[in-house]
Amino acid sequence: MKDPIGIFDSGIGGLTVVKELIKLLPDENLIYFGDTARIPYGTKSKRLIQQYALEDANFLLQYNIKLLVVACNSASSLALSVLQESLDIPVIGVVIPGAQAAVDLSKNKRIGVIGTTATINSGAYSAQIKRLTPDAKVIGQPCPLLVPLVEEGWLDDYVTQLTLKKYLHDMMREDIDTLILGCTHYPLLEPAIRKVVGSEKHLIDSGRETAKAVKEVLMKEDMLNLKGKTIQNKFFVSDIQEKFAEVGSRFLGQPLQNIERIDFEQFLIQLGTNVPCAENLGKE
Ligand code: DGL
Repeated sequence: MKDPIGIFDSGIGGLTVVKELIKLLPDENLIYFGDTARIPYGTKSKRLIQQYALEDANFLLQYNIKLLVVACNSASSLALSVLQESLDIPVIGVVIPGAQAAVDLSKNKRIGVIGTTATINSGAYSAQIKRLTPDAKVIGQPCPLLVPLVEEGWLDDYVTQLTLKKYLHDMMREDIDTLILGCTHYPLLEPAIRKVVGSEKHLIDSGRETAKAVKEVLMKEDMLNLKGKTIQNKFFVSDIQEKFAEVGSRFLGQPLQNIERIDFEQFLIQLGTNVPCAENLGKE
């Protein structure tokens, strides 16, 4: 019987999604893969992100996972359908749950989305929101400088405040009432973002919404782990960065343990041609 939930991200950011999964589904066994050797994904092309996503998913499939969570917003935006087509387990990304929550909460249907360049340029959030509410107005803003600021731990630094003000300036003139935090790193900036957008606007944490969606699917498919935890959550990375555990603990909200660096290049060689090539799957 398939057991753990697999989660992948381009690196460390997906730990914000793991944090929500642990809160909501404490009995589930979690296996995480952070592709720290190839981060960032948010600056890369659709083709490359799809290829990486397929490789990351195949790494996790070795652990007999029952469901895959694509914690990375950039990979969810550009590779979700490719993954769903090629895997025979449920695959849940962060975009659809985030878009759904925004539509549910927004009164004036004017919704802002911030994320990496890949996420915003893909138009994935906008497409999902418009699928649910065709007359919604969606204003997207790429914020590429925020990922390094968060990893540096500058969560409420004046540099971060200025950067946020600049990125959000035009959007604030658009009378949005809801803002989607469309990147794994942004939940850590929630207090700083609040200072810029004020207390009235709804802030949507896509990771939190995704944890709810995962729980719903597990319940519906009768796949909840009723035996309780049988393994300690495991965190694989493709490169160990200095301070990885320290930075990761900040994202996870608790000490990050049980980290293992794997030789991902070796894994890819072994995998050979078993991974469907993204070029054959992705529809440009
Ligand atoms: N995890 C990525 C995302 O949510 C951010 C970091 C990156 O660019 O890879 O889009």
